[in-house]
Amino acid sequence: MQTVTVKEIFRETDQFLNQKVELSGWVRTLRSSKAFGFIEINDGSFFENIQVVFEESLANFAEIGKLTISSAIRIQGTLVPSPGAKQPFELKAELIDILSVSAADYPLQKKRHTFEYLRTIAHLRPRTNTFAAVFRVRSVVAFAIHKFFQEKGYVYVHTPIITGSDAEGAGEMFRVTALDMAKLPQDEASNVDFSKDFFARETSLTVSGQLNVETYCMAFRNVYTFGPTFRAENSNTARHAAEFWMIEPEIAFADLNDDMNLAEEMMKYIIQYAMDNAPEEMAFFNYFVDKTLFDRLENILGSEFGHITYTEAVELLEKENSKFEYPVHWGTDLQTEHERYLTEKVFKKPVFVSDYPKGIKAFYMRLNEDNKTVAAMDLLVPGVGEIIGGSQREERLEVLKNRMRESGLNEEDYGWYLDIRKYGGVKHAGYGLGFERVIMYLTGMSNIRDVISFPRTANSCEF
Ligand code: 4AD
Ligand code: MG
Repeated sequence: MQTVTVKEIFRETDQFLNQKVELSGWVRTLRSSKAFGFIEINDGSFFENIQVVFEESLANFAEIGKLTISSAIRIQGTLVPSPGAKQPFELKAELIDILSVSAADYPLQKKRHTFEYLRTIAHLRPRTNTFAAVFRVRSVVAFAIHKFFQEKGYVYVHTPIITGSDAEGAGEMFRVTALDMAKLPQDEASNVDFSKDFFARETSLTVSGQLNVETYCMAFRNVYTFGPTFRAENSNTARHAAEFWMIEPEIAFADLNDDMNLAEEMMKYIIQYAMDNAPEEMAFFNYFVDKTLFDRLENILGSEFGHITYTEAVELLEKENSKFEYPVHWGTDLQTEHERYLTEKVFKKPVFVSDYPKGIKAFYMRLNEDNKTVAAMDLLVPGVGEIIGGSQREERLEVLKNRMRESGLNEEDYGWYLDIRKYGGVKHAGYGLGFERVIMYLTGMSNIRDVISFPRTANSCEF
């Protein structure tokens, strides 16, 4: 007898029809009458369930009829065409082995639960249809990203999690220490001497792998990172997490246009890959989560992303200032409401905003000829807002040193970063794609807490 998965049965039905097979999984629903019953089984291999029919001829018929939701069973039986309209085939059981009986207070009984409630049982929610779909798409998209870059010959670099520098210069770092603060004398605890700490200096969790990956870019030409990043941003929004994953390609001999072209190509590749490789899950999102999803994604695959400079965008937005909570003027950072206005009302598709004022962007971005703006770009998408932030990097040593001084950064902390400008530095560019944001975009899920397995946000680090 052949052991099979639900996925194999759905994908290669002809091979298994009228054959004896063995399958193990968990009970999703159960109905039983005097002489027979139906169980819907999910084995985790596939989005769909398979229906099992069992009859009173089975020795443990009575026990099977009493099984609780989420009990685990092993079935041997024959796959037969189904007389019911709901499914093309069903598994006629000849033996059902009860592997584990679930406690009766299992929280996921067959009724709809709110996403808020499901967050409180984040350890059980991947067993629901919505979260099974989210996390399978997340896995498929992670693979798509590696495939995209690997096929282009990019080298995947594992940049460090613990770092001594603030890559964004924004001061939103989580401190890392091995000192037992509780054991320090009172007067020392408030004025800790980090030279006595594990690394003999102050260290933090990384906010971005960019500075490290830039050094590998000058060795391998085209590189990328894909890893967790951490930000102590105290913004309690549906798009910010304290721990999130970021993809950061870095390309040598390249400018801002090359950077934007790469970002557009990657986004389209990912969308197509998810549609082709998780069709059942994507159809579920399109039906249950966001009815406009497919139209939106297809529209994007068939069109070119928009382009606008920050200065042009501000001219446009200023006319609408009465509509906004935060009015816009040249020099202010764009808020989510402005970003969404641009992408949802003006362009109605993804749009790159470029050449931001230097005062609101990071120190490493290349200064433009006007001395006022930098070669930066953000990609804004409908429904989410900023999904990518990137730039051409400042490769001119003296200009970079100046910008660091202006930004209040200590040159000595960044000696290694300056070295790559000294030793054969060339123009280069890169960007960071927020992985959770791209999953939100692809699924229509509207809260970042619902696209990461165990979310970490302000005042919340359970599980
Ligand atoms: O725009 P950011 O801050 O850019 C960087 O970190 C650069 N070092 C990237 C680079 O050029 N290599 O962040 C990049 C992206 C944002 O566009 C957003 O999608 C995501 O990371 N992001 C967050 N996602 C979830 N929660 C947060 N708190 C995020 N902060 C940024
Ligand atoms: Mg940004």
